[in-house]
Amino acid sequence: MSVTIDQRPVILTGDRTTGPLHLGHYAGSLRNRVALQRSHRQYLLLADTQALTDNASDPAKVRRNILEVALDYLAVGIDPAKTTICVQSGLPALAELTLLYLNFVTVARLERNPTIKDEIQARGFGRDIPAGFLCYPAAQAADITGFRANVVPVGEDQAPLIEQTNEIVRRLNRQIGRDILPEARALIPSVGRLPGVDGRAKMSKSQGNAIPLSATPDAIRDAVRRMYTDPNHLRASDPGTVEGNVVFTYLDAFDEDLATVEDLKARYRRGGLGDAAVKGRLEEILQALLAPIRERRAALAADAGAVLDVLRAGTQDARKTTQATLDDVRAGLGLFAFEPT
Ligand code: TRP
Repeated sequence: MSVTIDQRPVILTGDRTTGPLHLGHYAGSLRNRVALQRSHRQYLLLADTQALTDNASDPAKVRRNILEVALDYLAVGIDPAKTTICVQSGLPALAELTLLYLNFVTVARLERNPTIKDEIQARGFGRDIPAGFLCYPAAQAADITGFRANVVPVGEDQAPLIEQTNEIVRRLNRQIGRDILPEARALIPSVGRLPGVDGRAKMSKSQGNAIPLSATPDAIRDAVRRMYTDPNHLRASDPGTVEGNVVFTYLDAFDEDLATVEDLKARYRRGGLGDAAVKGRLEEILQALLAPIRERRAALAADAGAVLDVLRAGTQDARKTTQATLDDVRAGLGLFAFEPT
C-alpha cells in the first residue's frame, strides 16, 4: 500500500455568519476560493464565534446564518469533495489556541489594528468595546494557524489581520525556539474593494447598498438602475467621468470582455454615451452571473439537511487538523501533558 502525502499549500479563510453573502464577497474572495480549490488544500470556516463578538445580543441570527453562508458557498461552486467547510464553534482547539495567543499580543497592538479601529468606529462602541471584539484578531490568528494555512484569500480590509497573525506567529516561534507555525500570505484580488451601489466605499448589507448573491432578477435590475454614476453627467452627449463611477467599477470587476469595457469607457469620456446604455450592459452581465448561483442556491436550500451533513462532516475533519496543531503548540510551550504519551 502506498501512502500519498498531500503537499499542496493550505488555504484557510472564512466569513462571519451574520447574513447571506453579496457581490462584494464574491469579487473580494469567493471567486478566488472557487479557482483555488483544486491546487490547494482548502478549508472554509463559518466564523460563528467571531460573529458573536459584535452580535452577542442576537445569537439566533448568528446561528441561522451558518446555513445561509454555507448555501452561498455551495451555490458559487465550492465543492465539498475538494474543500472542507467547517463551523468555528465546533472546533474547541481554536478557542484554546486563542487563549494561548492572547499572551503573545498586547492590548495596545490590538487597539492599533486599522481594521479593528475602523470597525469599532463603524459600530459606535465608544468606550464599551466588548473584550471579545477587541481580541478577535488573536482568534483569527488561531483560525489561520490552526490549519497551518499558507494562503488566506480575503478582501483588502482583512490584510491587517493577516499581518497581526504573522506577528503572533513570529513571537510564538521565537519563544518556542523553532518554526512551529508557518506564516501566512494574504491573497487579495487586484480589482480592489467593490463599492456599494450607492457609491460608498464598502458594500454592506447593514448599509442597504449590497447586491446579495441570491438577489432576484428584479432586485438586480433595481440595484443597477439606482447605481451611482457621474453626478455631472446629465445628458448622454456630455463627457463623463469613469473614475469613481460605480457602474464602471463593476464592469471592471465582472465583465470579462475587456476590450468592450475599454471602448465603453472611451465613448463615455468623450461624450455621447448615456448612463442607461452602460447600465444595460452591466445588468446583462450581472443577471448572467447570478442566475445560475440563485438557481443552485434554491435547489440546495430545498434540502437543508444535506447541507448540514456537509458541515458536520467538514467540522469532524477540521477537528483533527486543529487539535493536532494545538497539541504541537502546547508541547512547544511545555504545558503540562495530561494524555499518557
Ligand atoms: N474576519 C473575517 C470577516 O470578517 C472572517 C474570518 C474569520 C476569517 N476567521 C477568518 C477570514 C480566518 C480569514 C481567515 O470576513
